[in-house]
Amino acid sequence: MMICFLQVLVFLLPQLVFSIPNNFIYHDYINGNSSKEIHFNGVKLHVDSAQASVFAVGGGNATMPCRFWYEPELSSPREVRVKWSWLPAAGGHQTDVLVAIGSRSRSFGDFRGRVQLRQDFPGDAALVMTNLQCNDTGRYHCEVVDGLEDKSTSVYLELRGVVFPYQHPHGRYQLSFLGAQQVCEEQDSTLATFMQLFQSWKEGLNWCNAGWLADGTVQYPINKPRVPCGGHGLAPGVRSYGRRHLHLHHYDVFCFSSSLHGKVYFLQPSHKMNLTEAQQACQKDGGEIAKVGQLYAAWKLRGLDHCDAGWLADGSVRYPITRPRINCGPSEPGVRSFGFPPPQHKHGVYCYKAGAE
Ligand SMILES: *[C@@H]1O[C@H](CO)[C@@H](O)[C@H](O)[C@H]1NC(C)=O
Ligand SMILES: *[C@@H]1O[C@H](CO)[C@@H](O)[C@H](O)[C@H]1NC(C)=O
Ligand SMILES: *[C@@H]1O[C@H](CO)[C@@H](O)[C@H](O)[C@H]1NC(C)=O
Ligand SMILES: *[C@@H]1O[C@H](CO)[C@@H](O)[C@H](O)[C@H]1NC(C)=O
Repeated sequence: MMICFLQVLVFLLPQLVFSIPNNFIYHDYINGNSSKEIHFNGVKLHVDSAQASVFAVGGGNATMPCRFWYEPELSSPREVRVKWSWLPAAGGHQTDVLVAIGSRSRSFGDFRGRVQLRQDFPGDAALVMTNLQCNDTGRYHCEVVDGLEDKSTSVYLELRGVVFPYQHPHGRYQLSFLGAQQVCEEQDSTLATFMQLFQSWKEGLNWCNAGWLADGTVQYPINKPRVPCGGHGLAPGVRSYGRRHLHLHHYDVFCFSSSLHGKVYFLQPSHKMNLTEAQQACQKDGGEIAKVGQLYAAWKLRGLDHCDAGWLADGSVRYPITRPRINCGPSEPGVRSFGFPPPQHKHGVYCYKAGAE
């Protein structure tokens, strides 16, 4: 009713309409298509998200909700521009993810082929992401542009996973930042972010060796203050050495694993094996020797519990315990480590099969 009334007013008294102070001016009447939607500057665009954060697992999918609507409501849909961008949790620049106008869309960089706009209902601008990588975490911004109106909201994507400290086979504090990045990748994981380490600290991670994080800082999580770890005087917390020189300084590392692509299992051997035999036994079984990140993910996300030490791909020997018991290490759950024994030593082995559940 109001629209019709104003339209009449426009044709009769255009100058008057343009001077109405409350912003109710419409454009697009010049082309004379009276069935066209009339846009008032007084119509407000709103954008919001049903969730402030979304949790997902590596290799899985995630939907980041975003929805827009007008107030007052429009009688017919309008074509808007939706842009999703990403601020990596690991630090760095805001990166374009996807831009869509109507049903056309374009995705960018590493996101190509992995993202699409949901568009299940009018105003739905949710971002659907598939095959999530460990390093996809961070803040995703949903921006909706309609003419001069521009509104946005954001959703934080966090992967469920596990942070684990990793030490070079040659011992403590051997890794530069690049070396740290590389060993995490070799173990099917990624450098942990501060938020991931902080979350693990809240869940009880207590580790007295300092390790690199994705942002180039070096920190360590302490739940039980003790003398060699900064002393009794300091409160529990994540302690930081701050940013260190990426090439000159050497520490351990905190890796993050969220891999649920496949299955980790202890290969029931007829006899114990040296490292080479262990690798071959997994291959013969249709898999491969498991990586440290895969064992941690299976322990944390699937509750893998097995009280036999086994070889892993990096030449370390470990076993995962979720139900602590006598003869299976300390009274807390954890992945127990025997370090890196000589490769001719005889143990069992943990294997990994991709795709298997
Ligand atoms: C007027 O606009 C409507 C909707 O945008 C369109 O379907 C119709 O064909 C247009 N008519 C003329 C005469 O341009
Ligand atoms: C993720 O989505 C794709 C495409 O929609 C589907 O084929 C796949 O099974 C999904 N993966 C998981 C882990 O849900
Ligand atoms: C994220 O990880 C994937 C695979 O792990 C890698 O291919 C990609 O380059 C990484 N992206 C960034 C921005 O580091
Ligand atoms: C493991 O044992 C095999 C013989 O079964 C031997 O050929 C191989 O060199 C051994 N590997 C290591 C790393 O000791």
